[in-house]
Amino acid sequence: MASAATRTGEHWTCPYELCDGSGIAIDEERGVAKDCRCRPARQRAMRVSGLRSSIPRKYRDVSFDRAPMPSIAAAAPAQVRAVRAYIRDLAENVRTGRGLWLYGTVGTGKTTLAMLVSKAALDAGHSVAIYSLPRLLAEIRTTYDDASGDTYTALLDRLAEVDLLHIDDVGTEKTSEWVLEQLYSIINARYEEERAVIITTNLERDDLATQIHERTVSRLEEMCEVLPLYGSDARRQRYDGPQRDIA
Ligand SMILES: Nc1ncnc2c1ncn2[C@@H]1O[C@H](COP(=O)(O)OP(=O)(O)OP(=O)(O)O)[C@@H](O)[C@H]1O
Ligand SMILES: [Mg+2]
Ligand SMILES: [Zn+2]
Repeated sequence: MASAATRTGEHWTCPYELCDGSGIAIDEERGVAKDCRCRPARQRAMRVSGLRSSIPRKYRDVSFDRAPMPSIAAAAPAQVRAVRAYIRDLAENVRTGRGLWLYGTVGTGKTTLAMLVSKAALDAGHSVAIYSLPRLLAEIRTTYDDASGDTYTALLDRLAEVDLLHIDDVGTEKTSEWVLEQLYSIINARYEEERAVIITTNLERDDLATQIHERTVSRLEEMCEVLPLYGSDARRQRYDGPQRDIA
């Protein structure tokens, strides 16, 4: 599979250096055009182009042996082991549509862990779409309002087809029924096609179900391994001790 670096927007660079990016290679000996070895990967990448697949700057260098991961692992060893195992079996998880659902209190490393998985998936050449839920829903709305219905349908198709769909901060805002139906149809399409989803949320299962529909949550529950992350908010400053106590 092609590396993430070769998938830059609409432009495809042949990972084997056998074609000019068109997916068509010339058989020098016989002087005829033939499908390049990169063609399947190229087609996949083209299908999902236009989706957001970059790791936000804050999480770009995330890795198991760099801060804050050791500290997250100390606070939630079983959960970090589960994420490690998920990444070890990433190809199989993507193939069978197994995902992760990270939930818990604010500032406990949920997004960090999810980004670690998305980064590993991109590095392994899988197509990944990374959105916060509000952002994803806004994008669906915008494309729907677009004059031609094409971009809207194309967006939904791509969201259904991408190898890994990573949605951060699910359930943070109340949204319209229409938008929730769109979310349902994306999750349901991925459910039926057995494609992997990663979500992070602050909400408990039942609260999430009232926010984004029981039947969406029910499908996610079946598709994902559920990992709770509770603890103190690592973003909070400690105002209560002397300066030397501050780590
Ligand atoms: N256990 C931890 N130890 C040290 N730093 C941590 C820990 N968990 C998170 N952090 C740091 O706290 C900040 C928030 O982490 P992250 O965005 O992963 O949290 P989150 O659980 O997704 O929070 P939210 O629920 O608000 O989205 C980051 O700067 C991260 O590096
Ligand atoms: Mg988060
Ligand atoms: Zn090629």
